Amino acid sequence: MTYTHLISQRAATVERLTLNRPEVRNAFNEHVIAELTAWAGEVRAAASRHEVRVVVIAGAGKTFCAGADVTWMAKTVHYSEAENLRDATAMSRMFSAIDELPVPVIGRIHGAALGGGAGLAAVCDVVVADDQALFGFTEVKLGIIPAVISPFALAKIGRSAARELFLTGARFSAARARDIGLVHAVVPAADLDAAVTTYIDEFQTAGPDAIAAAKALIPKVWGRSPADAAPITSAAIAERRVSPEGQEGLRAFLDKNTPGWHR
Ligand code: COA
Repeated sequence: MTYTHLISQRAATVERLTLNRPEVRNAFNEHVIAELTAWAGEVRAAASRHEVRVVVIAGAGKTFCAGADVTWMAKTVHYSEAENLRDATAMSRMFSAIDELPVPVIGRIHGAALGGGAGLAAVCDVVVADDQALFGFTEVKLGIIPAVISPFALAKIGRSAARELFLTGARFSAARARDIGLVHAVVPAADLDAAVTTYIDEFQTAGPDAIAAAKALIPKVWGRSPADAAPITSAAIAERRVSPEGQEGLRAFLDKNTPGWHR
């Protein structure tokens, strides 16, 4: 599929997605949302065939993503209530589609990740940021709220940081973003791609089905007591250890071999 506002590049099993509206700092409107949702569907299908094993999301130009397109948000005043809700629901589906991808998603953040841009960071599994990057849940500064992104952001930063940052709308540094769990690695801009590559290489030496299962397990277990989680976690490991991939990995270790998935 060809996209107008996205650049999708695949090299071997690494899918690189670049948000490509640099003139508005990669802000997303309804067209970008439709394209991102379709792209996530394509990646999901390719991942099921092991054609994609890692995704990197980046932004073209000066900035990763300035969040929702303010021009688009403002024009919703002309929508009916049903149209407004349908439009917002499409945005929510987009974030879920990326959040639920069965492959690891690396966010490569430079410049700024504000509003929905910080939301995009929150649906990545690993976020690598340039040490000058700025983050912010800035919506309240515009008289709106970080609503659709809130479940994803809360799962990363927790209630305490959310109460400060959702309510002030303040911009904060990459170092702070790392401290609250939104970012995993902060590096000088010149080292950003190398840091992304380190993670790509790490993921390529793990079983792709195991990665997908580990990723799916986290939201199932999150918030449960160990006793409530036990049936889920026991079933998950019971399934994995007898799976072809699990058996291959365990056997390879014992035989001092490298499993077939190892790149
Ligand atoms: N929606 C629509 N247009 C946006 C935008 C957004 N979220 N963010 C930036 N733009 C536009 C600007 O209006 C400007 O357009 P113009 O060239 O016609 O004047 C263009 O993108 C460049 O923006 P500018 O502010 O000059 O770029 P910058 O590189 O100096 O700063 C940001 C980049 C991202 C720090 C800054 O644009 C910003 O703070 N944007 C708002 C982010 C925000 O609060 N998002 C939450 C939305 S809910």
